[in-house]
Amino acid sequence: MNSNLIRNRFMDFFRSKGHFIAPSAPLVIKDDPTLMFTNAGMNQFKDIFLGNRPSLHSRIANTQKCLRVSGKHNDLEEVGIDTYHHTLFEMLGNWSFGDYFKKEAIEWAWELLTEGYGLPASRIYVTVFGGDEKEGLENDDEAFEIWRKIVGKDRIIYGSKKDNFWEMGDSGPCGPCSEIHMDLRGEKEIKNNPGKNLVNAGHPLVIEIWNLVFIQYNRNTDGKLTMLPQKHVDTGMGFERLAMAIQGKLSNYDTDVFTPIIHAIEKESGIRYGQGEKTDIAARVIADHIRAIAFAISDGQLPSNVKAGYVIRRILRRAVRYGFTYLGFNKPVIYRLADVVALQFQDVFPEVIAQKDFISKVILEEESSFLRTLENGLKRFDQLRSQLKGDRKIIDGRTVFELYDTFGFPVDLTALIARENGLLVDESGFSKAMDEQKIRSKNASKTDTGDWVILNDNAEAVFVGYENLESESRITRYREIKSRDKKEFQIVLDRTPFYAESGGQAGDTGYMQSGDEKIRIKDTRKENDLIIHFSESLPADPAAIFQCRVDDLRRRLTENNHSATHLLHAALRKVLGSHVQQKGSLVNEKILRFDFSHFAKLSREEILAVEQMVNQKIREDIRRDERRDIALEEAKKMGAMALFGEKYGEKVRVIVFDENYSIELCGGTHVPSTGRIGLFKIISESSIAAGVRRIEAVTANEAENYINARLDILEQINSALKSPSDTYQAVLNLLEERNAVVHELETFKTEKAGNLKGELMGKVKVIGGINIIVENIGNQDASTVKNLAFQLRQLVEPLYLVLGNVSGGKPQLTVMLSDSLVSGKKLNAGNIIRELAREISGGGGGQAFYATAGGKDITGIDRALKKAGEFLVGTVN
Ligand code: SER
Repeated sequence: MNSNLIRNRFMDFFRSKGHFIAPSAPLVIKDDPTLMFTNAGMNQFKDIFLGNRPSLHSRIANTQKCLRVSGKHNDLEEVGIDTYHHTLFEMLGNWSFGDYFKKEAIEWAWELLTEGYGLPASRIYVTVFGGDEKEGLENDDEAFEIWRKIVGKDRIIYGSKKDNFWEMGDSGPCGPCSEIHMDLRGEKEIKNNPGKNLVNAGHPLVIEIWNLVFIQYNRNTDGKLTMLPQKHVDTGMGFERLAMAIQGKLSNYDTDVFTPIIHAIEKESGIRYGQGEKTDIAARVIADHIRAIAFAISDGQLPSNVKAGYVIRRILRRAVRYGFTYLGFNKPVIYRLADVVALQFQDVFPEVIAQKDFISKVILEEESSFLRTLENGLKRFDQLRSQLKGDRKIIDGRTVFELYDTFGFPVDLTALIARENGLLVDESGFSKAMDEQKIRSKNASKTDTGDWVILNDNAEAVFVGYENLESESRITRYREIKSRDKKEFQIVLDRTPFYAESGGQAGDTGYMQSGDEKIRIKDTRKENDLIIHFSESLPADPAAIFQCRVDDLRRRLTENNHSATHLLHAALRKVLGSHVQQKGSLVNEKILRFDFSHFAKLSREEILAVEQMVNQKIREDIRRDERRDIALEEAKKMGAMALFGEKYGEKVRVIVFDENYSIELCGGTHVPSTGRIGLFKIISESSIAAGVRRIEAVTANEAENYINARLDILEQINSALKSPSDTYQAVLNLLEERNAVVHELETFKTEKAGNLKGELMGKVKVIGGINIIVENIGNQDASTVKNLAFQLRQLVEPLYLVLGNVSGGKPQLTVMLSDSLVSGKKLNAGNIIRELAREISGGGGGQAFYATAGGKDITGIDRALKKAGEFLVGTVN
């Protein structure tokens, strides 16, 4: 059974049990501060479990792209070293939202594994939760009883909280779980040691393949468990492991999920997989990591230096280093594997193939840049290792920081290389060094988020802000956020006119008022579908009724920019081509910023064409056509483009400005008709990453201000030039005249220096065989004096030259000596100048044959020159 068939059979099975088949959520999470990446199939349903929003379906199944590289679930260290952990993996899951519970979840899992996939019952063991005294939780005897009837009690193991109580992070929905394990070893080994002894013991062939979680609690941020209003089921089955079990392989990497990538790596390296421990690990690491990287980039997460972007960079660097050290990849190679991944998943995750050129380009850039520092970093590592004294086995934090800061080694990469060398790294010392740097760059901040205070359990706020900028509302919950230097509150309302930042549009500001008390709302954001209002204070009576009001001018200006962004997007696709895809956007009351895929700098003509098209659409005063609650499929048929990496519900909102021009899926707020935008002006075009360009533009009054500011400059230039008929020509003339004058001045200076040289040569005094020139040459610039000194050195030998001059109103001294005086007579220009400089209240230095000094006291020049002779005493005689 190939892997596509395995996946499809899962869907067919749960469809037959009344489940709706949902799409995978994007890998990158944008509205949950507790989680950067989807790490389990249940993440996208967290709100439904919490009761924040209802589900359209009570039963859902899907395959979810998951990444476990940070936070509570982090498998990175095992990846590649073993054969069954991954950074990115697919999780097949089925969910019940307040519908079926343990019995069906268990019975169906069994039916699918044994009948649907034909896996042998004799190889299956199950675990159930064995209670936890500290948490006050009992054994899950209910699950035990259900399993007992299916597999008999000998195949059931009670497990601890660590293995059998599932939590997605430090807080969130959770519950006891029952895992299904498979023993994939040979008969002989099984006879020697029954699989039951090896469950959850880290054996590569006795592995968990499916986890059935019975969600019934929420873990609060204070660590306490509270009961959820309803009971739910969340199951997750590792697709790659399932494929291994069904295909009778001993490693995930031997299944058809991975073999195409492994083959491509063999081809690139010329090293066969299965021939050596180290080279195999490297091949597995790269095969695993390229999937994580390609999927993350296709969902809009570019590698960067912060947060989720840095996680992707770390994974990529880990892959590059394994390739470099063990497979001889000293030139970029990994970027070429993106195509293999794209082809492999074209049917189930088409977002990868749709962007494969872009993905390769981003990886190539990253790979090239890390390869530039990797080799030197590894050398530095070796050097540091050899400097470790005695039997010290720990690389200190500062050193780890140096590798990070100078060579771009993520700390986990240094730790990995250290481990390979039998060493450890001082991670807390590294964090300290990092913190010190952060404090130096003043962006350290630690916040403390309190638990929600619930006033009304129905947290699903109604957003009325498409039609109204005012509402009468009550607070449903609030919490306090403390950070080092400030305190703020987050407030959720039962109905709100405030637009929460999303889709690039800034959140609304405004106020909420009850009686005389007015609370300023300084921002509005979304978190797990809750609309959260940020304020600096809490009303005296949170249970009161509030009049809420959005700052309307700010909202209207923001809308101008948002609608203009749609017009711009459409214009870019028309002018540059349909490869243009939105990669990011930011819209507020001042500016709009639009990032998009395109491989070259825009020419002046292209920018003008885009700008003209947008302004034309503004003048056409096209009415906004807003369609709410239409099915995603219908919207796509209309021509709306879904953005990769965005999470869409089944029902979407579509904003149309002229059916033949701009149709976008969008939750933002927009102008009633395009005329209100007034004017559109692009103010910059730049590159922000490989294959991604950024346009910044302004509209309405900001566009007017921008243009007026430029016209003002022109006015000032005109008036300074006495209003010429052609300003540009006048400036060119001016530059030409200036160049001529500069040229003339240079010639004059050269002539003058020539004369001076002649004059000085005429003043040479010969004492004891040494040619001495000591002169005050008046106003001369420093470079003229320097040239003069070097020319005289060529002409006169042996030369003892001391010059005094004034440059820019300041006294200067120069000493120049022939080599024979330096080596033969032990004179030193540097020493001489230090003595002389005192006379002009200054200081200086230089080399033994040439030194200069600057000072403050012009009257001292002659004193210094008089003194200059003293150094020759004893030398001449
Ligand atoms: N949430 C559980 C897990 O990730 C089951 O889906 O293992």
